[in-house]
Amino acid sequence: MKSNLVLIGFMGCGKSTVAKILEKSLEMKLIDIDKEVEIQEKCSIRNIFEKKGEEEFRRIESRVVEEFSKKNNIIISTGGGVILDEKNIENLGKDGLIIYLDVDRKVLYNRLKNSSNRPLLDGEGLWERINTTLDTREELYKKSAHYNLEIADESIYEVADMVKKIYIEKG
Ligand code: S3P
Repeated sequence: MKSNLVLIGFMGCGKSTVAKILEKSLEMKLIDIDKEVEIQEKCSIRNIFEKKGEEEFRRIESRVVEEFSKKNNIIISTGGGVILDEKNIENLGKDGLIIYLDVDRKVLYNRLKNSSNRPLLDGEGLWERINTTLDTREELYKKSAHYNLEIADESIYEVADMVKKIYIEKG
């Protein structure tokens, strides 16, 4: 049996899009943890942050991660903060190959500057916010992953191909 394929990385790194491409080409079921949180809570991520706060969001996120880590042969696309709780990584890694989409910061900035659905990036100073948040998370992403995929200007399809190759070889 193949292990799960788990994508981690910063907001805007392309986890969800790559996962959707691979859902078709690997013919595997896809679980997007953020979407699952919204379905289970019947509430958008933004509303959960606003009404219940980040701590509660993290509790729900961990519960959903635990639930889906027990499945087999699925693609799991995670939220960017999943690495903040090491229990999440323990769960995801039990039967999952974890790949970090390590995207160049300027590329992240260009994608995120037009995004409005990420509560942690609200407000002024997006570039500084990306840098300070990534400075605290970068090592966590790297040490949580089995594979660190460095991405500069490759297209999302090229990235999906690279991920697929790693998974077919090692998953
Ligand atoms: C978060 C990333 C978001 C979402 C939430 C918190 C984070 O997911 O889970 O807004 O802490 O990095 P994406 O990485 O899919 O944007």
